[in-house]
Amino acid sequence: MGKFVTIHSFKGGTGKSYLSANLATIYALQGKRVCLIDLDFRAPTQHVVFEPKGIKRWVNDVLNGTAKVEECLVDCSSKVENKGTLHVGFADFSTEAIRDMISKGRKWETEALHRILSMRKELLENLKYDIVIADTSPGIQYSSINAVVAADVAIVVSTLDDSDIHGTTKMIGELYEVFQKKTVVIINKAIGGADFMDIDKSKIVEELQSKYKEAVIGLLPCYCEVGRMKRASIFAYNYPKHPFTEALRVIAAKIDLI
Ligand SMILES: Nc1ncnc2c1ncn2[C@@H]1O[C@H](COP(=O)(O)OP(=O)(O)OP(=O)(O)O)[C@@H](O)[C@H]1O
Ligand SMILES: [Mg+2]
Repeated sequence: MGKFVTIHSFKGGTGKSYLSANLATIYALQGKRVCLIDLDFRAPTQHVVFEPKGIKRWVNDVLNGTAKVEECLVDCSSKVENKGTLHVGFADFSTEAIRDMISKGRKWETEALHRILSMRKELLENLKYDIVIADTSPGIQYSSINAVVAADVAIVVSTLDDSDIHGTTKMIGELYEVFQKKTVVIINKAIGGADFMDIDKSKIVEELQSKYKEAVIGLLPCYCEVGRMKRASIFAYNYPKHPFTEALRVIAAKIDLI
């Protein structure tokens, strides 16, 4: 059976949405049946990457219990020139929907957890995706933690900023361990430019490994060309030989083995 992989972080802007879209692309190009779900209801992003036309149902509707998951999935395989299957469920980016999702209470979130768990089952067991990647909001609010609870593998993306490492370590220790999730860490936007190339990256990983009990499965430098690229042009697809893409392919292979 396939895997439900949740991509989360303590702080915002660590690269979750970017890595989600690029990992989904890498898996689709390998011929896998891939589903990407935007569970970041506070700041939906994936519609900017995949530019879907005429969305009828949103992931919000699935969590509200008014739509089935297959009704919200859009075939975005053309983004990878139909070299693989890439279906995406989008979060409603209207102001009303964002306000609505932010104002949900604990009771609704408890129901939403059951719906995410049913969604996971439906996607993996009936719709037979090889991999489902869920992009989430940063921080410890219920909606993201629900996605972590539903995950087979939880990936936490952190930068090398001390405050990020501190918050991430605390979040994993206090929350993830309660759920006993298989958790791995990706360090993204590490330092920068040519300087970084001279540094022994394994030393940094070793040092981080002593802070995190979880495996650090990748360390991605901050590349100006990655940050500059328009969202709609998926980096891993357009630059398959770039070191960023090569490193992401290694990460994808490590996720496969978890
Ligand atoms: N390795 C990298 N090098 C340079 N820029 C990067 C890298 N990874 C991501 N970025 C850039 O960082 C910005 C933020 O990325 P992204 O939106 O994926 O973060 P996020 O964690 O999803 O944010 P949020 O917490 O708001 O959802 C984007 O402009 C993206 O292009
Ligand atoms: Mg995001």
